[in-house]
Amino acid sequence: MTAAAWKERVAAAFDRASGEYDRHARLQKRVAGDLAEHITQQVDTTQVKHALEIGCGTGFLTLPLVRHYSHTRWTITDLSPRMLDECRRQLQSHTTSELAQLTLKPLDGESVDPARGTYDLICSNLTLQWFTDWQSALERLMTCVRPGGWLMFTTLAAGTFAGVNRKFGIPEPARGFQTYLEEQEFARWLATRSPWQGRVRVEEITEVHTGLADFLHTLKSIGACTTMDPVPAKTSVMRSALLGGKDDQPVEADYRVLFITLQNGAAT
Ligand SMILES: C[S@@+](CC[C@H](N)C(=O)[O-])C[C@H]1O[C@@H](n2cnc3c(N)ncnc32)[C@H](O)[C@@H]1O
Repeated sequence: MTAAAWKERVAAAFDRASGEYDRHARLQKRVAGDLAEHITQQVDTTQVKHALEIGCGTGFLTLPLVRHYSHTRWTITDLSPRMLDECRRQLQSHTTSELAQLTLKPLDGESVDPARGTYDLICSNLTLQWFTDWQSALERLMTCVRPGGWLMFTTLAAGTFAGVNRKFGIPEPARGFQTYLEEQEFARWLATRSPWQGRVRVEEITEVHTGLADFLHTLKSIGACTTMDPVPAKTSVMRSALLGGKDDQPVEADYRVLFITLQNGAAT
């Protein structure tokens, strides 16, 4: 599968999920809240004149940030046009912000154009794991942040769902382009990115589901169901577990979430 075909599939899955995302995305909502709190504690409003959000979804991170940085010029983006529509609707009903001051547009976060100007802050919640090449994408995004500016995001770390996979004997799926970042690898890469400095924190969060069917249904309902396999390994093993009557026990979905704070240390 090409990177372009992968993105089409990812966008289509999130498009389909846009209407019911909020009802199922408990983990995403919680992490967005934590990230928003972290950003607002770390970065003063006076320092942020222009900000970019990547992969806004329905707006779990967007809403608190737009409220807090109310004088900031925001560019709010997502690969999925229907997620963007949903985010626009949420902004209209839940903030007093003039939508005219906000730009919402479809954008692949991996192809942000540095020639279009720099940002004081680039942020993103639980989107990077869908990128096809996180290193090139981050290097490109770093060129879009002004000296002294920030790149703050969360993503899923390696080991996410290891417990579920072990419990049900699910082989490591051919995830294709989807990447769960490995902390050590990320730290090694970051050490080569001077003058950028950064901090990485891992949070382990367990989300309990009533059974396998509920777990799978949640992933599908939030659009997190694109894989490289024609019949995803995870789904087929889980289906046999379901048919074999193993769906009577709770599933503890084990997420490992990375909170990453990067600052452009170049002289201002
Ligand atoms: C798990 S959702 C998170 C949405 C939102 N940030 C939240 O906190 O609920 C992932 C989002 O990333 C978007 N996405 C996936 N790949 C992307 C890409 N390459 N560029 C921009 N957005 C992307 C999806 O359309 C989806 O809205």
